[in-house]
Amino acid sequence: CRKKEPYRIGISQCSQDGWRMKMNDEINREIMFHPEATVEIRSADNSNERQIADIRYFMDNGFDIIIAAPNEADAITPIIKEVYESGTPVIVFDRKINGDTYTAFQGVDNTEIGKSAAHYARHLIGEGGKVIEICGLKGSTPAIERHEGFHRGATAEGISVVASASGDWTYESAVPVADSLLTAHPDADMVYAHNDRMAIAASDVARRRGLKMKIIGIDAAPEIGIKAVADSVIDATFLYPTEGYRLIRTALAILEGKPYERVSTLPLSSPVDITNADILLLQNGSLNEETEKIRLLKSQVDDFWSRHSAQTSLFYAAVAI
Ligand code: FRU
Repeated sequence: CRKKEPYRIGISQCSQDGWRMKMNDEINREIMFHPEATVEIRSADNSNERQIADIRYFMDNGFDIIIAAPNEADAITPIIKEVYESGTPVIVFDRKINGDTYTAFQGVDNTEIGKSAAHYARHLIGEGGKVIEICGLKGSTPAIERHEGFHRGATAEGISVVASASGDWTYESAVPVADSLLTAHPDADMVYAHNDRMAIAASDVARRRGLKMKIIGIDAAPEIGIKAVADSVIDATFLYPTEGYRLIRTALAILEGKPYERVSTLPLSSPVDITNADILLLQNGSLNEETEKIRLLKSQVDDFWSRHSAQTSLFYAAVAI
């Protein structure tokens, strides 16, 4: 009987950065345990057009399931809807689309992250403190929710947001934004940036100007945000969970007709600051080592099986003669 072809999972990441690389590593680690599936990850480099083309590529090439983090909700909703209505299952993660034309959604409560950040801010700068906000890409839902959550939290905590402007999640976009906000408000007590790369940009601008203020970000990807906290470049970051392995497990459950959670919200954790940054970096180092060992073991097993099947074919060829 013919060997069943492995499922093909197509993953469309809206961008390529430390947070997404951590997630891609988790996906690639998980797929090593599932010989019944393969995965192809494409990155759209912050471009709506490229992401639409990537998703269309997966559709045109008959992938069994598509998983996507939509760059901007308005631009990416129609293609996700098209996939869904064509009958191919589609999982949306991290950033939302408009409506719910998807098979499953996995993400984090970004409004809650914004609120926790406001609570933490009040603890850092005290009641009456003044905050500058650097937002993520306008049309992406985490930026909208992190803004709303922080503003709600700030009102409750008695701190005020004196200025707010958008970057596009990148370091480069945040430098001029931080520059003009800090020119207008050199007396601010704190910068709240919607991610760590933009927080690091604000820290660099503040340092160049000789300004002393607290700076917090979001993501806590080890090599970026946690390292920036450990090096005292920023004061704190909030973990934005990746849990890439869950995406693969949900995808396989959908493909195999098993039960799965249609909307799953990943749990939040406490902030990362100077008290726990070093230990988290150490833990990450050992995780990387373990991953390397798994990779090595996997390649040895693959190697064994390919030699074994080559020898088996030779044996049968010899018997046939
Ligand atoms: C990574 C990123 C993160 C941010 C998330 C929001 O691509 O920009 O920094 O938390 O996307 O979707």
